[in-house]
Amino acid sequence: MALLPILTYPDPRLHTVAMPVAVVDDRIRRLIDDMAETMYAAPGIGLAATQVNVHERVIVIDITEDRSQLLAFVNPEIVAAEGFEVTEEGCLSVPGIYDKVERAATVKVRALGRNGDSFTLDADGLLAVCIQHEMDHLKGKVFVEYLSQLKQNRIKTKLKKRERATA
Ligand code: NI
Repeated sequence: MALLPILTYPDPRLHTVAMPVAVVDDRIRRLIDDMAETMYAAPGIGLAATQVNVHERVIVIDITEDRSQLLAFVNPEIVAAEGFEVTEEGCLSVPGIYDKVERAATVKVRALGRNGDSFTLDADGLLAVCIQHEMDHLKGKVFVEYLSQLKQNRIKTKLKKRERATA
């Protein structure tokens, strides 16, 4: 396994739209393993392939505190969504920034697992938020784009300044 570098907002590559995975093979399983290792090391609770500059529809999530329930979704699709919920979100690609975003409260997601089999999952609470957040990455969308233009500009300035300070 390997740690993968995570792209930082406003890197334009974060706006790439990911392509569907044609076949869940060893290459995709290795990507899932590397993404999981990268997510746990960060540490974070979700990571989309887009964030490690791989533009294929793969996300990993583990919202448990003891990192015991790794979920991998290949070609995820939301087939049903209900209600609304506002949660404070953060993102490994937008370090140190947290803000409120409105999402569906519950979602039903269909995807392929690491063995290539199709499954569906009903999610609510933090898991539902996380799935929607990570699936946005696959569309090239970062959560800060739900915020006002003023906030987005402030975040860009802050992150660029921080990047210069650590360069
Ligand atoms: Ni994110």
